Amino acid sequence: MIILAFPDYLSQAQRLAARLNVELAEIKVHHFPDSESFVQLPPSLPEHVIVCRSLNQPNDKLIELLLCASTARELGAKRLTLVAPYLSYMRQDFANQPGVAASQRIVGKMLAGLFDDVLTVDPHLHRISSLDQAIPIKNAISLTAADEIARFLKKQIDYAVLLGPDSESEQWVARIARQIGFDYTIAHKERLGDKHVEITLPANDYDNKPVVIVDDMASTGRTLAKAAHLLKAAGAAEIYVAVTHPLFCDDAETHLLEAGIKTIWSTDSIDHPTSCINLDALLAGALKAIV
Ligand code: R5P
Repeated sequence: MIILAFPDYLSQAQRLAARLNVELAEIKVHHFPDSESFVQLPPSLPEHVIVCRSLNQPNDKLIELLLCASTARELGAKRLTLVAPYLSYMRQDFANQPGVAASQRIVGKMLAGLFDDVLTVDPHLHRISSLDQAIPIKNAISLTAADEIARFLKKQIDYAVLLGPDSESEQWVARIARQIGFDYTIAHKERLGDKHVEITLPANDYDNKPVVIVDDMASTGRTLAKAAHLLKAAGAAEIYVAVTHPLFCDDAETHLLEAGIKTIWSTDSIDHPTSCINLDALLAGALKAIV
């Protein structure tokens, strides 16, 4: 068995390889001036190859994954496992208007054609109940970072109210709250545009209390920033953020800090300055269960 890591996921893959005691090699990637990708794997591979890469900024990465998986097969790999802690294109899960590409199903089918197993963390599945409905293979494995986030939070603060910014976040927030004995509450969110969200904070006593806003991802950061502004107005003492996937597009981080958020904690699903909750133990446990 070997772990092949794309450069943008190298440090996380090194931790995973060390935990599993498996050999690791880095995949070489070069971008030509016209933006085509050059991908190079080791010249020979064992039967089982685990490819590691999170699929944020996905358009180039998906093509490079196609090149990688196809080359690995040509080199004799019999079993290909993808570890993609962040899985993109999961949000558009149906054609909400005629002609709209249901990208979840289309990208899911592409991954199912390339890999025997796909492992991911907190994917954005809202209208389907299991990952294999999006990626039709037996080992389409959806893990949650909730327990790792819970353990981390317990070490940082004695008590806080956890706030989920929308109904979809309740699955993670409730689990974290249960594990560490914090109270939680869930806001109502309406998205009016890419960078425009309206949030209604549920009635609660936030006065002088620390609050942690918990979500699966921060993309533009507008959801978290809006929630933070409302919490400040409601008297919250300190506002923290814990997210699984730190996408932080464009000005997202600045926007969050300007909203008065004291600290942002995220997992290492994507390498980011806020990544302080490592997922290697979670991923290693899941890999051991299937190999
Ligand atoms: C939405 O349902 C997700 O759980 C996140 O709340 C959302 O993707 C965050 O996006 P943004 O940071 O752009 O507000």
